[in-house]
Parts: sequence; structure tokens; C-alpha cells
Amino acid sequence: MVDISGTTAYSKTTEHVPCSTRAKKACRILAYTIIIAFAITTLFSFVKLSDFFAKIRVSIPYPKIVAKSRLQERQKTTYSPAGVIPATSNKPKVILSWPPGPGWDFMHLRDCAKPVFKSIGCKVDNCIYTEKKSLADKSDAIVFIGRSLGSKPKKLPHQRWIWVTLESSCHTEAAETGGVWAGMFNWTISFRRDSTFFLPYGHAKKRSTPLTKIFTKIALKKTKKVAWMVSDCGTRGQRERYVSELKKYISVDVYGACGPFKCSKLDNEKCLDIISRDYKFYLSFENSISTDYVTEKFWKMFDLDIVTVTRGPANYSRAGIKPEWHINTNDFKSPKDLADYLKYLDRNVTAYVKYLEWKNQYVGLFPKADVYCDLCAKLNDPSEPVTWYPPGQLAKWFIDGHCIPPNDLNFNS
Ligand SMILES: *[C@@H]1O[C@H](CO)[C@@H](O)[C@H](O)[C@H]1NC(C)=O
Ligand SMILES: *[C@@H]1O[C@H](CO)[C@@H](O)[C@H](O)[C@H]1NC(C)=O
Ligand SMILES: *[C@@H]1O[C@H](CO)[C@@H](O)[C@H](O)[C@H]1NC(C)=O
Repeated sequence: MVDISGTTAYSKTTEHVPCSTRAKKACRILAYTIIIAFAITTLFSFVKLSDFFAKIRVSIPYPKIVAKSRLQERQKTTYSPAGVIPATSNKPKVILSWPPGPGWDFMHLRDCAKPVFKSIGCKVDNCIYTEKKSLADKSDAIVFIGRSLGSKPKKLPHQRWIWVTLESSCHTEAAETGGVWAGMFNWTISFRRDSTFFLPYGHAKKRSTPLTKIFTKIALKKTKKVAWMVSDCGTRGQRERYVSELKKYISVDVYGACGPFKCSKLDNEKCLDIISRDYKFYLSFENSISTDYVTEKFWKMFDLDIVTVTRGPANYSRAGIKPEWHINTNDFKSPKDLADYLKYLDRNVTAYVKYLEWKNQYVGLFPKADVYCDLCAKLNDPSEPVTWYPPGQLAKWFIDGHCIPPNDLNFNS
């Protein structure tokens, strides 16, 4: 089950894609670049792939420094003592993003991060990205979308197979990691901090100069208290039960499929602008509580002038989120206690505005292609150990004990 609450601006297949329009445009340009690259590849398809790569290596004018360091690298390789395997092979590593099954797409792996390694400025850019299944036996790494693995190709011994997911542990089936796939995955990409490659839904970067805004004025213009935009009304994390209790003590306006409030704008982004103009607080409750699972529900609000309420006990610090950037339900004994605090902030503009000022030191960013840079670097590192998840271990690591049952629904005490 996929939660699309509050993300109606994203289309069905890209609901997980927290790309800004600008990022999308950049992706499109990247996509065209890749299409052209493939056209050229096809032209040269009679040449052995490795020869072809060798050809482009000489024909593309690298920036000087890169060219020099590559030359040095090659020299180092050439003069390594006899019997020692050269540290780095110059042959580009081929990373294949395995097309998922019908009805699924590459999620943000394609839309945001489809990389042309040189253009995204990776430290190690000796990689080629492809989505062509036919290149499976030429690939050094194959990236599979856990939710929709598709048909299984033949695995070659030198290959790293990578399992990627954006879904919480509560919505991941052991079947996605088992059956014919058991023991197949060497590495992982996910929002879990302890993945081989950490890919959060968003992250924050310190601004060199905070925006000049008069937050007191902004706060005083707000006439309403709590807003929640949501479309999945019955969730594993039972956030709806928490909210219905919270509503007894403070007004919560529910927008979307699960509530009576309608936004007059069709565009989700514009709705959020209106909400952040009028409301003091926004509920960024995830559909389930799962280790390190913080989605676009948090990040899409980060740059807006509204205070976000999150629901623990997933550890938000581990996901790179500072305590000053949000109010977490886990810090309150009950929804009533939380409501009391929100009402206090509603009355005390000075205290309220601090939250907006803290956030204003940073800017929220959506996932970047960095994860591919890291992947490229690891593939090119001959000292990377041979490693994989033996049958059952991937599910054990990702699922067991990581779908956290809500502990905040006992309202009588
Ligand atoms: C949450 O994560 C932070 C950073 O990793 C850590 O310092 C803290 O102890 C964690 N808190 C809990 C309750 O696990
Ligand atoms: C309002 O908040 C400020 C800043 O946190 C605090 O110093 C002040 O005592 C608060 N005022 C009241 C009436 O609670
Ligand atoms: C990748 O995993 C397979 C098991 O599926 C293993 O045999 C192989 O040695 C691993 N390769 C690397 C390079 O770690």
C-alpha cells in the first residue's frame, strides 16, 4: 500500500518524487543528453563496448585537471610492481537501473538522479548509466527497485546487485527480498542511515545568508491554527486516531480526501502556500512509523513559513533533522499536552517565531544524484570488500523490528 497523502501534486507514478520543477527540468536535459549518448552508442554498436568507451575517453575533452590526474593514474597503473593488480582499471563501470515491472517507474532514481557522471561533478566519474536490460551482462552494478523487481536477469560473479527502496519497513514484504531474489543483493540504497548508500527524501543545507523576512509580521497574519492535508485515511501508523484525539483540544483543519476542507487551487504547491500563509502549524505525520522514515511530508514544508509537527518515535535526528526544526509528538505525554503547547505558541508570537527563524538558517533540498556519485566511487574502489545479504538477511535487516507500532494512542492515562 502506498500512501499519497498530501502529495496530490505528484502524479501516480511519481508520488515519491520530491523533485522541484527546476530539478525536473534539469533531469529532462539530462535525459536528452542520455538519449543522444545512446544514439551515438548505437551507431558504434558494432564496436566492442569496451573499445567504444576507450574511444570516447580520448575524444571527450576533459577539463585539464581531470585529464592530468587520469594520466597520472594511468602511469601509476602502468608502473605498478609486477604481479600487483593495478589499483584502478580505467574501464568505466556500467551501472544499470533495472526497469521495474509494469505500473511502476524508477521513482526519483530516474526523475531526479539520472546521472551523466561528468555533468553531475562526481569526484569519481568513471561510470556509465544505462536503463537497457540488454546491457545486463556488461554491467558492473544493477540497481533494482525493491517494490517492483521485475524479471530476474542472470547474475554474474563480479556484479553488485543493489536493492533500493523508498518504502517504510511497514510496507515492505519479505517477498520483495526473498524467493528467487534471496541472497542476490550486495548493497542497498534507502532512507535508512545504515544502508550502503543513504538516500533521504530530503536534506537541509545551511544558508550563507538567511533570508530577510519579518517573521513576526508573517506570524501575526496567520488566522488559523493547525492544518493537515491527507488522502490516506486509514494507516498502519494510525495517525488518524492521534489526530482525532488532538482535535478535541485544538482546531485541526483537514484538507484532502480525509477531511471537509478543500483547497480552492488545483495545484498542490499553491495550496501549501495558502496553508502556510493562514496556519501556524502543519501535521507532517507519516503513514507508518519506521526507522529513519521521514518523507516529503516533512521536506515539502521545510522552506515554508509554517511550523511542522512530526510524529515520533522514528528518530528524526538520525534522518538529519534538528529538533529546532519541528515539534515532535513524542516529546508530549498526550495529544492534549501537545495541543496545550501549540496553543501556547499560538499566543506567544516570540516563542512561535523562533521556530521559523531556526529553519530560516537552512534551505531544504530534495535528493540529489550524490548517491550515484557514491555508487560510482565504490564500484571503482578495488579495496571494497566482497559482501552480500545472505538469504533472509535483507528482510531481517530492513523489516524485522523496524516497523514501529504506535505508542501514543493510549489516551486514558
Ligand atoms: C537519535 O539519533 C541521534 C543521532 O544519531 C542519537 O544521538 C540519539 O541518541 C538518538 N535518540 C534515540 C532516542 O534513539
Ligand atoms: C514568550 O516566549 C518568550 C520566548 O520563548 C519567553 O521569553 C516569554 O517568557 C514568553 N512569554 C510568556 C507570556 O509566556
Ligand atoms: C555479490 O553477491 C554475490 C551473491 O549474490 C556474491 O557471490 C558475490 O561475491 C558478491 N560480489 C561482490 C563483488 O561483492
